[in-house]
Amino acid sequence: MPIRQFQAQRMHAPRDFQMIRPDPVCVEIGAGKGKHALLFSAQHPEKKLIAIERTREKYLAMQKQHVLEGQTNLQAIHADAMPWIVHALLPAQVQQFFILYPNPEPHNPAQRWLNMPFFEFLLSRLQPGGTVTLASNIPEYIAEAQQQLIEVWKLPFVKEVIPGTSARTHFEIKYLERGELCQQLIISKPEGYSTRFDDFKPLQGQNPVQVVTSETDIKNAE
Ligand SMILES: C[S@@+](CC[C@H](N)C(=O)[O-])C[C@H]1O[C@@H](n2cnc3c(N)ncnc32)[C@H](O)[C@@H]1O
Repeated sequence: MPIRQFQAQRMHAPRDFQMIRPDPVCVEIGAGKGKHALLFSAQHPEKKLIAIERTREKYLAMQKQHVLEGQTNLQAIHADAMPWIVHALLPAQVQQFFILYPNPEPHNPAQRWLNMPFFEFLLSRLQPGGTVTLASNIPEYIAEAQQQLIEVWKLPFVKEVIPGTSARTHFEIKYLERGELCQQLIISKPEGYSTRFDDFKPLQGQNPVQVVTSETDIKNAE
C-alpha cells in the first residue's frame, strides 16, 4: 500500500529548540540511557553524534553519564525525534542514523518507523551513501521492515545477526542475555535517490514563540 506524504510543515518546533551547526552529523533516535551514544562517540572522535531521547528519565541518565565521560562530539537532546529532525536537520546532512531496538508498537503498526510517512523525510536528511541501522529482537519487526524496504522505499540493505557478545545498548544486553535472536538491517541510500523533501529546509530562527504540546499547555496559554 502506498504511504501518504508526510506533512512536515505541520510539525511545531520542540520546546526550547535550538538549531545545530550545519556540519555532517550522525543521529541516534530513541537513544535510551545513551549506552550506544557514549560508546560510539568515544570510538569515533572524528564523528559528531546527536542522540535524541523522548523519555525524560532516560535522557537525564544519558546526560548524567555524558557529563562524567565528557565526549565533546556527542550532543544529547531531550525531544521527540520527529519534530526535532524536521526543524534541525538540513537535506543530506546525516551520515548515519541509528534506530536501535525501537518500541515494537504491537497494537499500532502504523507507528513503526518504516511504516510511517516520516521515514521519507528521514531519508531526505541522509547523505548519498549514508546508512540507517535498524536493530530489533523481534523477527517479525525485521521482516516487515525488510518488506517495506523492497516494496515501498526501494532501498538496498543487508541483514545481520547481532553476535551474542554484543553489548551496545541496555535493551540489547537484556535480549541477548535472554537468548533472543537480535538482528539489524543496515540500509543504504544510493547516489541519485530522491525524495519529495530534498528541497525542504527548516525555517531557521522562525520557530513559534509558544509551542502548544499538551492539554496543560493549552490551559496555561488561556
Ligand atoms: C525500547 S527503548 C530502546 C532504547 C535504547 N535504544 C536501547 O536499545 O537500550 C526505545 C526508546 O525509544 C524512545 N523513543 C520512542 N519514540 C521516540 C521518538 N519519537 N523520539 C525520541 N525517542 C523516542 C523511547 O522513549 C525509548 O527510550
